[in-house]
Amino acid sequence: MSVERIPFGLMPDGRKVYKYIITNNNEYSVHILTLGATLNSFIAKDKNGENLDVLLGFDSVEDYLELSDYQGATVGPVANRIGGASFDIGAKHYELVANEKDVTCLHSGGEFSFALWNAVVVDSDAVEFGYTSPDGQGGFPGETSVKVIFSLKDDNKLTIKYEAVSDRDTFINLTNHAYFNLKGYGNGTILDHTMQINAEKYTPVDEMSIPYGRNDSVEGTPFDFRKPVMIGDRIDDDNEQLNFTGGFDHNFCVSGEIGELRPCAETFCAESGIKMNVYTTLPGVQFYAGNFLNGTAGKKGVPMEKRSGFCLETQYYPDTPNKPDFPQCFFKAGEKYESETVYGFHTAGGSDNAQ
Ligand code: GLA
Repeated sequence: MSVERIPFGLMPDGRKVYKYIITNNNEYSVHILTLGATLNSFIAKDKNGENLDVLLGFDSVEDYLELSDYQGATVGPVANRIGGASFDIGAKHYELVANEKDVTCLHSGGEFSFALWNAVVVDSDAVEFGYTSPDGQGGFPGETSVKVIFSLKDDNKLTIKYEAVSDRDTFINLTNHAYFNLKGYGNGTILDHTMQINAEKYTPVDEMSIPYGRNDSVEGTPFDFRKPVMIGDRIDDDNEQLNFTGGFDHNFCVSGEIGELRPCAETFCAESGIKMNVYTTLPGVQFYAGNFLNGTAGKKGVPMEKRSGFCLETQYYPDTPNKPDFPQCFFKAGEKYESETVYGFHTAGGSDNAQ
């Protein structure tokens, strides 16, 4: 078990960016940047015992700042989309950054994802990242202090714990936007992975990817992942929801009790033998199949082609601030936001069933 810190580059204003590497006793490692509290690499073992990097990402600060589609980034203060880029708190109306088609607020305009975070090593297997968002940034009320603690233990589970508190009443919805490829970055698409999601319901969206505000049953739809399904078998089905989003890019309502760490999803790649189990305390998970990736060159110059990575972004549902019937992510001034998400890795033979 060890934590190492190495220089990664410089911000445009000259501040230093570091990479922290946590390595466990099985030689699995996670590489995390102080830029965006970003997961840069995750090295797992395949069925032949070879190292595989299962995360998409970039090799330089410049590439992250110029080319990123949120690869591995921490997202906040409010992840996913907010319709009309606005919300109300009491009688007050807040206009937010409208960074998608000038209409929608997506991932809060990237504030947390492209900020420089502080980091401290808190254990032989854990690093804590911190960032304070100024009041009014991106239109969001409150000075909000955030902590994200990453740890990697010998059970090969990457745990991410989030905490945040604001000095004003506000909405908080944090996630990580890692794109995984369990065949290894650069080894093709994720269409041959099987996906299982522990959800009876999902939140259908309009053409702008904003939920209608209702939870629909997955039964009889391409969104039924209650049993493992090969992603490629359904992603191009002629279905209005899939046509709106160009493939899976939807929020699923994770079954079980919100606030409890419970199974969320399980993804498996037969070629590498790697299985990933996701657990979360949060109400939902966005399964995004990397439909907008378009060949941008990432680590070692390897292109990130369409659908060469998938995201399982644990979260409150998209547009929650405008959807009173969704589980709420409203926090009073001084009230603490807390959540936990775990990504656990196994190689063929290991088991950890999400059902
Ligand atoms: C999210 C969204 C996608 C896409 C990516 C960023 O996960 O759901 O539609 O915008 O971020 O490219």
